[in-house]
Parts: sequence; C-alpha cells; structure tokens
Amino acid sequence: MALLKLNTAKSGIVFSEELKQSALAANALLHSGKGAGNDFLGWVNLPSSIDKAQIDAINACAASLRSKADVVICIGIGGSYLGAKAVLDAMSNPFELLHAKHENPVVLFAGQNISEDYTAELLAAVKEHSIATIVISKSGTTTEPAIAFRIIKEEIEKRYGKEEAKSRIVAITDQARGALKTLATQEGYQTFVIPDNVGGRFSVLTPVGLLPLAVGGVDIEALVAGAQAMEAATAEGVAFDDNLAAQYAATRFELYKAGKKIEILGSYEPKLQNINEWWKQLYGESEGKENKGIFPASVTFTADLHSMGQYIQEGERTLFETIISVEKPAHEVKVEADEANLDGLNFLAGKRLHEINKMAELGVQLAHIDGGVPNLLIQIPAIEEKAIGALLYFFEKACGISGYLIEVNPFNQPGVEAYKKNMFALLDKPGYEEESKAIKARL
Ligand code: PA5
Repeated sequence: MALLKLNTAKSGIVFSEELKQSALAANALLHSGKGAGNDFLGWVNLPSSIDKAQIDAINACAASLRSKADVVICIGIGGSYLGAKAVLDAMSNPFELLHAKHENPVVLFAGQNISEDYTAELLAAVKEHSIATIVISKSGTTTEPAIAFRIIKEEIEKRYGKEEAKSRIVAITDQARGALKTLATQEGYQTFVIPDNVGGRFSVLTPVGLLPLAVGGVDIEALVAGAQAMEAATAEGVAFDDNLAAQYAATRFELYKAGKKIEILGSYEPKLQNINEWWKQLYGESEGKENKGIFPASVTFTADLHSMGQYIQEGERTLFETIISVEKPAHEVKVEADEANLDGLNFLAGKRLHEINKMAELGVQLAHIDGGVPNLLIQIPAIEEKAIGALLYFFEKACGISGYLIEVNPFNQPGVEAYKKNMFALLDKPGYEEESKAIKARL
C-alpha cells in the first residue's frame, strides 16, 4: 500500500480548475522561494538533503546517551518539543514503563512549561536513575527551556561532576547565535545545528526531532525515507490529481471559504494523540494571523465520542473533520465468546478489536456527514516510521500551501511575542521598566 492515501470524497468539495491552479501555484511558490517568509523554506527540500553521514552522527550521539543514561530528559518548547514527543509517542509502547527491563531509555520532556510541581516531580522521579539531557532551543533564549536547563544542568553537574556532565549534555541550537550556543561552546557540549532557514514548527526532521527519537529507539533512517518519498510525491511539477498535499490544502481552503472555520484532526489510535498536538502547532501558528485562519482542534476517538461527540454531531455547523485512519494494527486481540452473555456482546465473539474499531470509524464518519460535518480521510498503512515520516512531510507541505492560499506568511509567529512582553514586564526583567509600570497599573 502507498505510504499515505487521501480521500476527500466526503468533504463535499469538487476541485474546480481554478482551485487546482491556485493550489499548484502556492506549491510552486514554496519551491521558487518567491512567496512571503521565503527565508524559512529550508524544510521544503530538507528530507532529500539528509545524508547517511548526518543520520550516522545522530545515531552515534544517541548511542552514547543511551549507554550512559536510563532517562534522557529532552528540554524544549513548541517546535523544539512537539515533533519529538509526537513521533516518540506514536512509535512507543505506552506500557513499556511497567516492563521490568527497558529496551530503550525513558525519554522525558521538560521546559515545555514552567510548572513547579511538574519540575519537582520530574526531578524526584529520576533521583534513582542515571540521567542525561538534550537541550533544544533554536533562538537559545526561550524562557521556559532556559529555566528547565538551568535546573537539569545543575542536577547533572552535582551528580556527575562538571567534566562528566559535558558528555551527558547535548545542545541543539543555532549555528552561531544565542545564549545556548555561547554556553555550549564555553562548556564544550556536543552540539547539533538547527538550520537558519527552518522554523521551529517545521524542524521535526532536523536533529531537533531526530536526536530524541534516535535515543528513544525510533528508526530515524526509515522516518526520513518516508518523508523523502512524500517530498518527491508533492514536488513542484507533480500534477494536482497526484499531489495529495495540494489536494488537502485545496479542500481545507474551500471549506474555510464556505464557513467551516474549525478543523478537527482525529484518529482512532491513542498513540497518535500527540501527532494531533504537533499538527495543531503547525497549522495554528502558520495560519492564525491577520484575523484569518482555520482553528485547529483535535480528538481521539472513540474516547472523545463520549465527550466531544455531541458537539460535533449537533453543535455549531462551523466544523469539518480530518481523520487519520490506520489500516493495520501491530497486534491481534479478539473478543471471546461468553456463555452467560450478560453484556449481550456475543455477536462480536471472534471479531478482532480492529474490525470493531473500523466499524466505529465508518459509522461515525457517516453520522458526522449526516450531521453536516464534512469529512476528509487520511489513510496510512500502519503506525511505523516510514508512514509517519510521510505523514509529517505531507502536513508540512500542505500547511505551506494553505498559508499561501489564505494569503498570510505561514512562516512567522508575531502573535507569540505578546505574552512574553507582559510576562517579562510582570517579572521586572531589566529593559522592561516602562512596560512594567504600564502593566502593573492595569492590575
Ligand atoms: O515554531 C516556532 O518557531 C516556535 O514554536 C518555537 O519552536 C518555540 O517558540 C521554541 O523556540 P526556540 O526553539 O527558539 O526555543
């Protein structure tokens, strides 16, 4: 089976020639570099630029961290966190923590919040375990990861001494700029570079995502191979009818114009829940500006049918739904027959859970369409590295096209500065004296 299929038949959108041409023109802009935000297009040809030497260097660093630590703490936020978390969760057995022996180190995350309880409980949990850290910040100055790194660095240096700490700390940051780069050079940490022309939310296929994933036992070569296949399949010159990213972007664009302002991404596999979170950042930060953009929301079914299902079926008709459907599970579990049949479920005896899950998927799709919720279906053959790599690049490419279709710069995020300014003013950061006075007068 193909690594990814897209079915837009139940979206109600018919692709006009004009729409096809607009989507292809937006795709061409990404390749020509003549559109808005063109200094952040390094992700477009990124997969095909990754060579064996880069993969080997990342795997070698991962092997070193794996040999030293039971727990590797990845520090980062936003685009410096969500991609690794998403793919790691997709590729991991969530119950491995209960296994007596772990095949892979446990990868934990920090710096994606400033919660004192989270930080304290994390430190307490790793007390009896050997640790190492990967600190990730493109700017090297983001407050949340910088605070977490101060604390984790101190813990590592206290435990292992300054010299040994150097081999337990890896920094992923800008080639030349930023406080983290300065510190890494000063301390002699191994570093990996986030290319200048790749923005945070498009960086999952750089060392930002690849190193934590390699530490967690993910086959990053296969992940990149999947992304490379999708890069080729969505390249400039690929006809609209073959270009799934252009089709997805075009469908969303038409639905948006028709008043469908909210897209819900969902799946029937809990392991994909954090793919939703990564996708929400990708689309939310890329499209949500100038008072425009589809609001990205997410669900995991069937769980959320018992919470959000009511709204989706009968609430405001401003929604459409995109479902990631997995063709083949990795395991087999069947419903057994039961002599008493008190729950009345003997009609399911002998059936695999996957078959029941698929019928739920089909039944929900039809119910939601009947309820006025257009439906897009993305099918992947299995939750495995190649398909996930293809899915990541598919979403990235469609996101770039979508941004150009609604005529925004999909590669900046001016809106995220507002909270930072207020927070620094409230915390009396030097240089924010005027803002401090002004904001405190408002309290
Ligand atoms: O997409 C983005 O650019 C942001 O989400 C950043 O990734 C996030 O703010 C973290 O930034 P940095 O890597 O500079 O610490």
